[in-house]
Order: sequence, then structure tokens, then C-alpha cells
Amino acid sequence: MNITHLRYVAIATPEFERSRAFFTEAWGLRDTGIELHGRAFLQTQLDEPFQLALVPGTERRIDRIAFGLSTRHDVDAAARDLDRAGIPTIAAPHQLATPGGGYGFQFLDPDNRCIEVSADVAPGPAGSGAVPQKLAHIVVNTPDIDRATAFYRDVLGFKISDWSEHQMSFLRCNPEHHSIAFNAAPHAAYNHTSWTMGSIDELFRAQGRVRAFGSPLMWGTGRHGPGSQVFNYFIEPSGYVVELIADGVEIADDAAWQPTVWERKPEFMDLWGTSGPPGPEIREAMAGVPDPGHETARV
Ligand SMILES: [Fe+2]
Repeated sequence: MNITHLRYVAIATPEFERSRAFFTEAWGLRDTGIELHGRAFLQTQLDEPFQLALVPGTERRIDRIAFGLSTRHDVDAAARDLDRAGIPTIAAPHQLATPGGGYGFQFLDPDNRCIEVSADVAPGPAGSGAVPQKLAHIVVNTPDIDRATAFYRDVLGFKISDWSEHQMSFLRCNPEHHSIAFNAAPHAAYNHTSWTMGSIDELFRAQGRVRAFGSPLMWGTGRHGPGSQVFNYFIEPSGYVVELIADGVEIADDAAWQPTVWERKPEFMDLWGTSGPPGPEIREAMAGVPDPGHETARV
């Protein structure tokens, strides 16, 4: 499967209006104004109709993670490959009803997350200014990091960029260091999403906006070892951890890249030593709440 990029993440929020205000006023995403089944669709500067969908809900959970494919032919081929591999699909390839439409289908990953792949999605108007250029990655907690990593590598075609001991695996589908990462944990859950700013200056401008909104910096500013991004972490009103990054590495030459197993030392979590390791509050928020996954997979 030739996944091209991370298209969007849909998350359920028990604080729908407050989350929506955070992601538009503080985070800088453009509210498309489209409401479908009570959902809000928010956009970065990327050539996509939206990159974040907020779903009204009673608890935090991942509703969907969507990735891009190049063509409708690739979508059909992906469905056939998953079928042959015995991977449960939620729907056969069909015309999508989300903003931008497109042709795609949904299936379940080993932790019962609903994953969508699609092509032919029409872009919408992009945001501008010191707002996120794109959704960079999602990190998810998993009870079986080897199973999850192997599935995304062997079935979905991701490449392993780096490991952080046997605690985190970072996987890429394009030159970006990681579009998804897995964190070993007792249960499946959202850990954080990360959003790319155009420069370190823009990252700090956004940080000022988030601060003015009333959400304090929870971890940062520092520079990660794996991926080398400058980072700032916040917690949005319903409790999701969100990260702003800038100036990360790009892996231009796949063949030359050798994954590193980074030691989990504070100096590798923050190469600059300006922020130190994450504190208990952000760690607890990253642990998240147990996510049962897609409702068709729930017992
Ligand atoms: Fe991150």
C-alpha cells in the first residue's frame, strides 16, 4: 500500500465548543463552517479540505485516522490486499461523504482503530498566517507495540524511522520523520497530535496565542532527539495533548537512513536541555483514557 500522507484525524470531545474555540482561536486552524452530523471540520494550510474533525462525544476517543493514497486504483488495490491478508474492513471502497468527498474505505488496525484510506479528495480553502502548515503526526498508545509496528510496516507499507528503546516506534510514509508513532502502554489511547509550524518564529507566535487563550505551556520549549523537532506541548480543553513543532528532519534518502534506537534519557527527549523531561500532568494526559476503538469492534 503506497500511503502518501496523513490526511486527517477525527477525535471525540466531551467539551465540543471549548475544543472548537481552542483549535480555531488559539491553535489557528480555519473553521470550514461545515457541520455534518454535529461535527466540526478544521483546516491547516495543507492542500486538504480539513485536517481535524471534532466529534461531539461523552468521552475522549479516536474516531478515525485517515491517510492519503494517490489514485482510485490504489484504493481498490489496497482493499484487495487487506482482504487477502484477512484484515477486517468496515466498508468496501465507496464515495466518501466527508468534506472534499473522495473515494476510500475504512478498516480496523490491530487495536481496533478505525483507519481510512482515500484518493481523489478535493482540497478546500487553506488557512494563512502563523497557523499550522499541516497535521504532522499522531502518536497513539498501544498495548502491543510490536504488533502495531509490524502491521503498519508490513501491511500498510510504512517505514520505521527510529525507536525510543522499546517504548516508542516512529514510522514514516514520506520524507517526514514520522506520520504516526506508537507508544507502549497498558491500553490503546490517543497520546498526542503534532502540528507543523513554518518556522521557529511562527512556533513562538502560536505559543503566545495559545497562552493568551489561557492554556499554559505544559512541556517545552525543547528539541527532540528522534526527529529533531523543536517542540511545545499543550493540553486542550477536553484533555487531548497537542504539540507544535518546527524545524524537524526530513528523510530524503530512504536507502541511506538507518533507524536509531535512542536511549530514553532526558537529554535525548530534549537535546537543548531547556525543558527537561515531561512532568506528571502532561504524562497523565498523554496516557489518555482507554479507547475501545471502533464500535463495530467492541464486544
Ligand atoms: Fe510528537
